[in-house]
Parts: sequence; C-alpha cells; structure tokens
Amino acid sequence: MTAVTTTALPLPLHSRGKVRDTYRMSEGELLMVATDRISAFDVVLPTPIPQKGRVLNQLSLAWFAQTADLVRNHLSPDLSVPPPLLRELPDLEQRSMRVVMAEPIPFECVVRGYISGSGWKDYQRSGSIAGAPLPRGLRESARLPEPIFTPSTKAAAGHDENISRAELANRAGRELAETLERLSLSLYRFGTERALTSGLILADTKFEFGFHHGEIILIDELLTPDSSRFWDAEQYRPGGPQPSFDKQYVRDYLEQLGWNKQPPAPWLPDDVVEGTSSRYLEALRRLGAAGPREPRELRSEGLRRYVPS
Ligand SMILES: Nc1ncnc2c1ncn2[C@@H]1O[C@H](COP(=O)(O)OP(=O)(O)O)[C@@H](O)[C@H]1O
Ligand SMILES: [Mg+2]
Repeated sequence: MTAVTTTALPLPLHSRGKVRDTYRMSEGELLMVATDRISAFDVVLPTPIPQKGRVLNQLSLAWFAQTADLVRNHLSPDLSVPPPLLRELPDLEQRSMRVVMAEPIPFECVVRGYISGSGWKDYQRSGSIAGAPLPRGLRESARLPEPIFTPSTKAAAGHDENISRAELANRAGRELAETLERLSLSLYRFGTERALTSGLILADTKFEFGFHHGEIILIDELLTPDSSRFWDAEQYRPGGPQPSFDKQYVRDYLEQLGWNKQPPAPWLPDDVVEGTSSRYLEALRRLGAAGPREPRELRSEGLRRYVPS
C-alpha cells in the first residue's frame, strides 16, 4: 500500500498539523486523519513512512478505550466512518478517529519517569528539570525516584517552552494545574504498567487536554511512539542514551548527514524508511498485545461502552 502524505476528503478542513489532517465531520465533531508524514526536530520530512498513520491511530484508539475509566476522552460516541468517505481513501477507517471538538488547553502535559532528552540536558545544566529538584548524581536514562510532571507551553509555531509547575499554576490557575498534573500522572502510571507487560519501558510521554461543555477531557493522541519515548526493557542500560523504539533510524540518519535542522529537510533513503516503518509496526504488535482486545475488534464492537458519557 502506498504511503499517504496528504489527504483531500470532501469535508471542510479544520486544520493540518505536522502529522494529522483534521476535518469538520458534523456540528461539534471532528475527523482526525493520521497521515504517514513524519517530523523530526519539529520539521516535517519530505519522505512519508508507510503504515505509520495507521499504527498511530490504532494505538491511540486502544489506549483511549483502556483509560476511559481514568479520564474521559474525546472519542465520539459513534466511531463509524460513513461509507462514501471510505471510498475516498482505502484505509481511512484504520487511520481516522471521530472525536468531539474541544477547546484545547494550550499546555503540553509531559510526564517523565526516566531522565532523557531535553530533561537530561536541563539536569546537566541545573541539577533539576524545569525547576523540579532531583537527586544528585543521576546518570543519563536513569529511572527517577518518582515520575515527575514537567509541563510545557504549546507553541503555535516553533519549539515548545518548558515551564515550572508554579508557572503553570500562574498561567492556568492552581486548580486546573493540579487537575492536569493528577490526571497526567495517573495516565503515565497506567501506561507504564501496561507497556512493561509487553517488555517496553515508557520513559516519558506527553498528554493534551481540552474543555468540552465545561469538562476537562483527554484529547489528541495517546501513548504512541510520536508522543512518547518507548525503550526495549531488555536492552535498557542506564548511563547513556537508549535506542528509542521509533524515530531512532531517522534521527541518527539526519544527525550523521549534518543537516542544520532548518526546513527543507532532506529525503530519507529506502532502508531508513523501511527500518522506521517496521519499528512502528513492531510497537503496534507489542503494545497491541498488552491491550484487552485488538483495536479493530474494539471498533467493530463499538467503543461506546468503554467511553463513559
Ligand atoms: N478533540 C480535539 N478538539 C480540538 N482540537 C484537537 C482535538 N484533539 C487534538 N486536537 C488538536 O489537533 C491537532 C492535531 O494534529 P497534529 O498533526 O498532532 O498537530 P501538531 O503539529 O500541532 O502536533 C493538535 O494541534 C491538537 O492540539
Ligand atoms: Mg501533534
């Protein structure tokens, strides 16, 4: 099957993000379509990754279903895709999700259980992550004594900015900040336990929330390789960077090219594309096995009963 770089469904376009094309489905409802676009260092690459959109969408669907008791999410009560739309794009059913339109809360709710990436850089500089004090002498990729909540702003363009919990409380109000933290930590704990049963470490992840009829709901994607760092538990060796489960080939390839990380991004060679695609499929295979049921079965049964109204 050929990769889907962009979509043109006969519906009003709501927005095109780095990865997803979102349409207005009906009053108050969106259809989010995961394309095969991939971004690295916040730049969308010209080369798509076959299967990636389908994998991301199916993982999110399964996680939303499994976490519906912890926090209400944006899945529509009716998840079916109308047949005329299905004829427009052969695998639309697998790569799309009907959701209620929320008013996004403009913060990324990041939870880290391990010290890596920008958190590791911050710690080396300051001994803390976004003001959260941490024990001395941690090694790169070490497990933290407790998972920590390290929010960031959601920038309309460019890079997000890390802010302290106190700063989040200033900007969002104390009550909302506390709720976002509590929900994020409980979702992270749930994801960690489930991932470990398939031999994966959920090193860190990001959640987005929104308001829907005055209620806080979980939106966007959930516990996918695009929003999270997954490591193979068997290969985990703290004291350096870990092979990540997804964009590793892509990032390594781009780093070794010496690309300046400004658009336009270079094309990826076939072996890097295939390596990345098979990594996403492997993530779906392993994490899919951790769920109670296959995402497709969930859809055909109707997710309704998993989603408290
Ligand atoms: N239920 C929802 N209602 C409104 N907006 C949403 C909902 N779920 C996700 N979004 C927004 O839709 C966009 C998803 O597309 P994506 O490709 O991830 O964009 P981005 O480049 O901003 O990450 C994000 O900006 C996200 O905040
Ligand atoms: Mg996104």
